[in-house]
Amino acid sequence: MTANATDAPKEDWRRHKKMERNVALFGLAAFAAVTIGGIVEIAPLFWIDNTIEKVDGMRPYTPLEQAGRDIYVREGCYVCHSQMIRPFRDEVERYGHYSLAAESMYDRPFQWGSKRTGPDLARVGGRYSDEWHVQHLKDPRAVVPESVMPTYAFLADRDLDAGDPSATLTALYRAGTPYTKEQIAKADADLRLQADPMGDAADLNKRYPKAQVRDFDGKPDRLTEMDALVAYLQMLGTLVDVNSAAAQEDLAKEKGR
Ligand code: HEC
Repeated sequence: MTANATDAPKEDWRRHKKMERNVALFGLAAFAAVTIGGIVEIAPLFWIDNTIEKVDGMRPYTPLEQAGRDIYVREGCYVCHSQMIRPFRDEVERYGHYSLAAESMYDRPFQWGSKRTGPDLARVGGRYSDEWHVQHLKDPRAVVPESVMPTYAFLADRDLDAGDPSATLTALYRAGTPYTKEQIAKADADLRLQADPMGDAADLNKRYPKAQVRDFDGKPDRLTEMDALVAYLQMLGTLVDVNSAAAQEDLAKEKGR
């Protein structure tokens, strides 16, 4: 062995020792390393268009659905219910096709989770009649005797106070939900139109495809919180044709490979 070969590692060690003993220098080097790592991980997400793949059918919520969603969040339904069917066989058999990322792309706040005191609600839309929902929310034990769900009868007696629906949609727009100018301008009228039994469904469907227009709570002359919540529940999982959307997603992945 030559003298040089044994000296070289010693030199390296001395340099390292210098850095390890200098807090400022070491801190700076650590900060630089973490910053570079962070930027490399996070920055691409701002430019990649398909962080969430778009799927046909997904649209921003109607003002009434959104008002129902706000009641859902206000009442803490998420404490017992999730809206995320995981790709496990037992969940798929019980609740239907597993949830696609795009199906919750307009959810603020999101409703993912695995806390299931009650069943997952991601695809509950259309599974029961409006009357069933109203009855169940008023008194869960009247339809499911062993239920531990609280009663929400007061929702049927409270007029819906959705504040200024245009302002709600504007706030969501600023957060990234692609509401159009027309949707924002007509938010208040649309909110009422959707729960109007004589409402023009074709008109609302131009702005919100597949929006269900009818009286939801059994009281056509009043717009209640129950109307909004049931309209929201009946929409869950009905917007995307999951089987064809999932097939498209798989195809895209195949192509990418
Ligand atoms: C304390 C926990 C709890 C809370 C809070 C709760 N639920 Fe439930 N929920 C349950 C349980 C348990 C069931 C299953 C038994 C039943 O159908 O009542 C259920 C069932 C349901 C179902 C029927 C689902 C199905 O597929 O059969 C719907 C719809 C529902 N809840 C909506 C709501 C809404 C809306 C809220 C908030 C206003 C809410 N729940 C709050 C526990 C809860």
